[in-house]
Amino acid sequence: MKFIDLFAGLGGFHVGLANNGHECVFACEIETELRDLYKSNYGIQPFDDVTKIDVTKIPSHEIICAGFPCQPFSLAGQKKGAECPKSGKLIEHVIRIAEFHNPQFILLENVPNIVNIANGTFWSYLTNSFKNIGYKIYHKIISPVDIGIPQNRKRIFIVAVRKDIDNGNFNWPDTTQLKNIDLSEILDKSNIHKHLESKKTMLLKHWQKLLNQLSISELRSTSLVAPEFGATYPHDFQQISFEEMKKYKGAYGQDLSNCNSWDEIMEKLPSYTNKYFKIPDWLVKSALKSRELFSQNANICTKWVAKLDKKNNSWQILEWRGNFNDLNIYNHLVQFRASGIRILRPNVAPSLISMTPTQIPIIPSEDRYLSPYEAAKLQNLHKLHQLPQGTVKAFKALGNAVNAKIVEFITKNLNIDYGILN
Ligand SMILES: C[S@@+](CC[C@H](N)C(=O)[O-])C[C@H]1O[C@@H](n2cnc3c(N)ncnc32)[C@H](O)[C@@H]1O
Repeated sequence: MKFIDLFAGLGGFHVGLANNGHECVFACEIETELRDLYKSNYGIQPFDDVTKIDVTKIPSHEIICAGFPCQPFSLAGQKKGAECPKSGKLIEHVIRIAEFHNPQFILLENVPNIVNIANGTFWSYLTNSFKNIGYKIYHKIISPVDIGIPQNRKRIFIVAVRKDIDNGNFNWPDTTQLKNIDLSEILDKSNIHKHLESKKTMLLKHWQKLLNQLSISELRSTSLVAPEFGATYPHDFQQISFEEMKKYKGAYGQDLSNCNSWDEIMEKLPSYTNKYFKIPDWLVKSALKSRELFSQNANICTKWVAKLDKKNNSWQILEWRGNFNDLNIYNHLVQFRASGIRILRPNVAPSLISMTPTQIPIIPSEDRYLSPYEAAKLQNLHKLHQLPQGTVKAFKALGNAVNAKIVEFITKNLNIDYGILN
């Protein structure tokens, strides 16, 4: 069948459909560099802005693919949904094109949260719009790990089938028989990787030193919150008076008794208490656990704190999401996040994200970042002739892309369920 690739990006839909024998006849992508890459990878020069497309100029086709921009819908985004003037309304152009060309299938991908955004009104708008122009909607949340690829990346896949050909037979891919690939099988052993900045290398070593010395054998989704070492202040001090507060110890056991104002007190408390005058709810359990660890290992912790690099707030928290009884950072994956240094299980990569390239997964045992080529493997885009130049641009585009293998599986089922290519 012939398909069009709207919001084409790196062409995750293109790869998935082409691997099932379908042919791209039109693409559109607003970013010049991605358009040039698309031309180089697939031999098609994409149109630029979807809002400027004259529908009559699009060649006839049987499938529309559209990974419409997801930022306004993701949890990290602004939660404005269809009200977002910039990207939220771009789906209207998919509807406009579908209404004119009436293709058999429409494939959409986005973050799962589009179902809830604006109290579900955006989702109703989207599904009703396609129903009103004659389509039956199927949707499912699928992550690459579900099909054996070692990346956690839940996305909603929407398949709209034109009602006159919908036989109710559409099946989502059966993933039960698929072999799981371990992240280690994806890692590329060549020596051309981007190494960790020496400050981060030292920091991880320092945290490992603490883990080796503390008398703990397991951590279950807990964070080690260094500023709580030696602290005694009430974890919720919204109702506490200034005089009362001076009786406690602040971050790293700093004395508050000499403070002359709340500002001075706040300077001696951990930064995460600043906004609501309390330890945030999600951190309380870990903070109290860290105080307990300190009381049992005061000497070790005090010496360790003296050498901790404290310039960066997030470097003072170790978020343990790894194997609970193997406290060796070097047997894990690491991600520097705004909330802390996150330690993750080694066999599956976290979701590649486009907005913050600083969160590129780290392989601490090799003192390096995941490479763009390895990330491309996690998106099944590694066979592309070219990726964007430079790590930041490559990760941004890969973090925006749809996983091409999931698209391939879904499209394979379209072929089977609707008797295409028999
Ligand atoms: C979520 S990404 C989709 C990526 C694509 N599915 C892939 O596999 O790489 C959304 C893409 O839409 C593009 N875009 C945003 N606004 C656009 C517009 N008005 N017209 C065309 N493309 C646009 C962005 O540059 C981005 O590459």
